[in-house]
Amino acid sequence: MKIITLFRGDGIGPEICEAVKKVLEAAKCPIQFEEFDVGEAEYLRHGALIPEAAFESIEKTKLILKAPITTPIGKGFRSCNVQLREKYDLYANIRPAKSLPNIETPFKNIDMVIFRENTEDLYVGVEKQIDENTVHATKIITRRCSERIIRAAFEYALKNNRRRVSCIHKANILKMSDGLFLSIFNEIKQEYPTIEADAYIVDNACMQMVMHPEKFDVMVMPNLYGDILSDLASGLIGGLGLLPSANLGEEYAMFEAVHGSAPDIAGKNMANPTAMLLSACMLLDHIGLEEYAEKIRHALYEVFVEGKTLTADLNGQATTSMFCEAIIEKL
Ligand code: NAI
Repeated sequence: MKIITLFRGDGIGPEICEAVKKVLEAAKCPIQFEEFDVGEAEYLRHGALIPEAAFESIEKTKLILKAPITTPIGKGFRSCNVQLREKYDLYANIRPAKSLPNIETPFKNIDMVIFRENTEDLYVGVEKQIDENTVHATKIITRRCSERIIRAAFEYALKNNRRRVSCIHKANILKMSDGLFLSIFNEIKQEYPTIEADAYIVDNACMQMVMHPEKFDVMVMPNLYGDILSDLASGLIGGLGLLPSANLGEEYAMFEAVHGSAPDIAGKNMANPTAMLLSACMLLDHIGLEEYAEKIRHALYEVFVEGKTLTADLNGQATTSMFCEAIIEKL
């Protein structure tokens, strides 16, 4: 029995966690959760977003399934995501965007996986006030961090029978920083002769993603472009409620929906648990329980194909519980 640290989160977090737990139980997954209240409510009660016991659990399990967390407004604390990413060196943010049946969007047959570098680039947050009207921000690109994310993308492509890895960059303007990222991509691609490799300047990549999304398979890029392009990819498949993600490091791994805590619909049994459930499936894949992940994805897919029990964000009328029951019935 594999033990996983579960963060229940804020807003719709607890509801979608319950739905996911029920589905995993119905699929008879050999896993057990150590559950923690983490987030705004915990911060207001005890002054820390993540309780000490939760860190102890993570250091034991090395695996986190995380519901979304409301970022409290104010100063004096660090974002929970940044804390976890830094502490456990979760350098690869992986976001697969795949079309689901019966979802209204102008784009069909989307199937792309974004590898976003998670630890450097402009996100190091180094900004300097030069004078009243001038601010400089520092963009950091290193060989070590570029190599590991690019290699992770190629390894993923190899393992998952993907045909191509595309590098997204702006090396025509940022000749040194993105130039380094691109040149490392060109070095590493030589190690993977069976995988096609190409490169796009980021602005062209945006246009191609909406004009010819079929061109893209696995995509790898520095942090900022990854942030923007993964939201673009979620728009292609019908919205944030459907997009799962993994944050992987060498030793630790964290899985979460891309969306936030949706306070506007919290407690109303309206939330769509799909992104959280697909994140749990990524976790199952990661720990070698692919057959359970496949079984759950298949059941979820069937519910979408029928299209009768979809939640309100997808123009359906089902509650979270009804949607969850429909998946369990298929299982
Ligand atoms: P949000 O993603 O929570 O909500 C945006 C819109 O999408 C809302 O109308 C919401 O009802 C809807 N929505 C989101 N997820 C849904 C789901 N599963 N089912 C149905 N509808 C869904 O973004 P927002 O409102 O900007 O942020 C709310 C809070 O979440 C903020 O405190 C923000 O900082 C936090 N947040 C946390 C994240 C995390 O923990 N990973 C990620 C993004 C935001």
